Amino acid sequence: MISIIVAIADNYAIGCKNQLLWHISEDLQYFKRVTNGHPVLMGWNTWESIGKVLPNRRNMIVSRTPASAPGAEVFLSIPDALAAIEQNVNGQNGDGDGQKDQEVFIIGGGEIYRQFLPLADRLYLTLVHTSIEEADTFFPEIDFSQWREIFRESHPRGEKFDHPFDFVVLERL
Ligand SMILES: NC(=O)c1ccc[n+]([C@@H]2O[C@H](COP(=O)([O-])OP(=O)(O)OC[C@H]3O[C@@H](n4cnc5c(N)ncnc54)[C@H](OP(=O)(O)O)[C@@H]3O)[C@@H](O)[C@H]2O)c1
Repeated sequence: MISIIVAIADNYAIGCKNQLLWHISEDLQYFKRVTNGHPVLMGWNTWESIGKVLPNRRNMIVSRTPASAPGAEVFLSIPDALAAIEQNVNGQNGDGDGQKDQEVFIIGGGEIYRQFLPLADRLYLTLVHTSIEEADTFFPEIDFSQWREIFRESHPRGEKFDHPFDFVVLERL
């Protein structure tokens, strides 16, 4: 299963100058809880932005010009990365001894989300209710008629964040 996890402003903004647009500790904790134990796949810019290996998760990066990324695996293309996940799910010799029903999380950024939105089975959205006009990276527009909501948790504000936000999970219809 391919899942996207992302925090999006009302205007679809997700980043600026290779950084996140906000610090929402509740969202960081949610991200950690949801992705824990699962492979995470990201673009090179997001890898650089995070700046470290995410523990207890298989860290997978795509880059057309790969450099060293200690603690992570680098793939030249999305099909290469997907094939590696598939191999792990099925077991290398096809005898089914791999991990079953593995959910892989696509964790950004903009370029990677654009390529994966048509492939995703599930979206874990943090809808951050503010508009960030100075952003330089955006999530692609979501056609909500193609998705059904299976979870929603609303927060009027964060402990140290002044805007409301919702954790929403959508499954493709
Ligand atoms: N709000 C959120 O939840 C969230 C989550 C994650 C990231 N972000 C933000 O998003 C921004 C980064 O996004 P971005 O769009 O600039 O970069 P990105 O998607 O993280 O990475 C883009 C890079 O990935 C590689 N790549 C992309 N498509 C590829 C393909 N088909 N095959 C092989 N390699 C491929 C290329 O690396 P090479 O140049 O090395 O070839 C490309 O330059 C940052 O501001 C970050 O903070 C936000």
